[in-house]
Amino acid sequence: MRVCVVGQGYVGLPLAIRAVEAGHDVVGVDVDAFRVKLLNRGESCTRAVTSAALDSALASGRLTISTDEQALRGFDIALITVPTPLRDGVPDLSSVEQAAAMVGAYLRSGATVVLESTSYPGTTEHVVLPQLEKWSRLSALDFHLGFSPDRIDRGNGTWDVYNTPKLVAGLHECCLEAVDGFYRSIVKHTVPAGSLVTAELAKILQDTFRHVDVALTVNPGTGRVRQGDAVLHGSARGRLAASAGRRLPRDPTSYDSHLLRPATPPALRDGYLHEDRLGHATAGRITDHIAHIGQVSREEHGARRSRRMT
Ligand SMILES: NC(=O)c1ccc[n+]([C@@H]2O[C@H](COP(=O)([O-])OP(=O)(O)OC[C@H]3O[C@@H](n4cnc5c(N)ncnc54)[C@H](O)[C@@H]3O)[C@@H](O)[C@H]2O)c1
Repeated sequence: MRVCVVGQGYVGLPLAIRAVEAGHDVVGVDVDAFRVKLLNRGESCTRAVTSAALDSALASGRLTISTDEQALRGFDIALITVPTPLRDGVPDLSSVEQAAAMVGAYLRSGATVVLESTSYPGTTEHVVLPQLEKWSRLSALDFHLGFSPDRIDRGNGTWDVYNTPKLVAGLHECCLEAVDGFYRSIVKHTVPAGSLVTAELAKILQDTFRHVDVALTVNPGTGRVRQGDAVLHGSARGRLAASAGRRLPRDPTSYDSHLLRPATPPALRDGYLHEDRLGHATAGRITDHIAHIGQVSREEHGARRSRRMT
């Protein structure tokens, strides 16, 4: 299969390498010329991909990394792994829109496009799909569209891109089959979701668990201790808590997560704020939709919104 991975960062690069290892021909496309230059020199941008693994993928002749969007020509499946940074509490989807437009321009009938970036529910269908249709001049019935969030616990030596169960979803049943079929060729297990929105919500829920989990096991309760101390204390507390027989959801020493940049207690508090705003934005969108289809009266809707704001 000819696989295109748009965005060669923490998420895109490991995926590209895994797809090469699984026998696919892979093109990584990124707008950052400097990053592309480093990658082509075998200098990885993430600990999840060793330089040896990158070198070997490049040497196989089955990995090309480029800034040239024409490299997308003839793809069978395109994975969008571009950033979605929070701005004013909601994800900035400009990179997703640009990437979807670029992919759309090279989209052929029967090909598959999957969004991997994190965003609010509805993004795949209401942000990515219109761009694909506009730039390809195809209709949604001509190609496959899916969502499959990155769920790797970075820094955790046990779970990686291969053995972390991959949540997969499609716009239609045939889309799910196409998306699931591809991911089954590169990862150990897939977990099919009933719809795009279900998978998008599941990703947000998972990240929320992660924040609470990290807050409970890592945050020492004081902003004055050094990060190293926080890790030790958090780890010790985690082990003691787990000795009751209940499995803790994650190893508190492995918090190499983009959710915690930089991983200091104040940043952790920022993380909660971001998550909170994303939660409010998501809740707002869902309530707006319900109100729109007439299941909640306008007055009730207003009252709910103001209750939420308080
Ligand atoms: N890093 C993680 O641990 C992690 C985990 C889960 C989910 N995510 C999500 O995955 C997405 C990607 O995150 P990341 O950490 O890989 O980001 P990143 O910043 O490491 O990499 C993104 C890459 O996309 C490139 N890019 C931006 N716009 C582009 C465009 N229009 N076309 C082509 N390339 C473009 C950037 O130059 C960059 O190299 C985000 O939505 C993030 O929230 C990240």
